[in-house]
Amino acid sequence: MGISVVGKMNEYHKYIKSHYFIVGIGNNSIREKIVNELNNSHAKFATIIHPNACIGSDVIINHGTVIMAGSIINSSTRIGHHSIINTGANVDHDNLIMNFVHISPGVNLAGGVKVGTKTWLGIGSSVINNIDIHSNCIIGAGSVVIHNIIIEGTYVGSPAKLIRKNS
Ligand SMILES: CC(C)(COP(=O)(O)OP(=O)(O)OC[C@H]1O[C@@H](n2cnc3c(N)ncnc32)[C@H](O)[C@@H]1OP(=O)(O)O)[C@@H](O)C(=O)NCCC(=O)NCCS
Repeated sequence: MGISVVGKMNEYHKYIKSHYFIVGIGNNSIREKIVNELNNSHAKFATIIHPNACIGSDVIINHGTVIMAGSIINSSTRIGHHSIINTGANVDHDNLIMNFVHISPGVNLAGGVKVGTKTWLGIGSSVINNIDIHSNCIIGAGSVVIHNIIIEGTYVGSPAKLIRKNS
């Protein structure tokens, strides 16, 4: 697409002082690992917001986070570091999205939802208002979360149910 590849991962040191970084890897744990390595080298991180995203007032989006095309972040929502709000996702008012979260395309979060660190919401999943989802969870594609999720694991279906606890 006309964008040149400037080098391999192990060559990032060349750019550490002169450039801002974004780690464009969807897997939350791998993204965190690479960010930690870059942090050890004192990298600076950008925040990237697509011009066709719609960001409400009193929204905070921290560095390293990417907001993709067509997504809507409504008022008074907080989004942590190195998270991904993917294409066409709706993150409604007063949400708290922690670090290294991945909100996949077409996800709908109602108001007052909290998503814990490194949790991944699969494509097209939905969460009703005022729900807390624990860190390190996976919510399956198309699933609907209607209860707080307090045990780390994988949840699928409507309503979303635990199919596997994290080991
Ligand atoms: C939830 C998910 C991670 C589970 O993957 P997995 O650990 O490999 O699980 P499996 O495919 O072995 O499925 C286990 C069971 O859960 C069911 N299941 C899996 N995903 C489901 C989903 N999204 N909704 C309903 N049921 C689901 C399977 O049918 C299976 O049921 P069974 O044992 O009765 O046959 C995966 O199915 C998923 O939804 N991934 C999201 C992908 C995505 O959103 N990608 C976008 C990236 S930008």
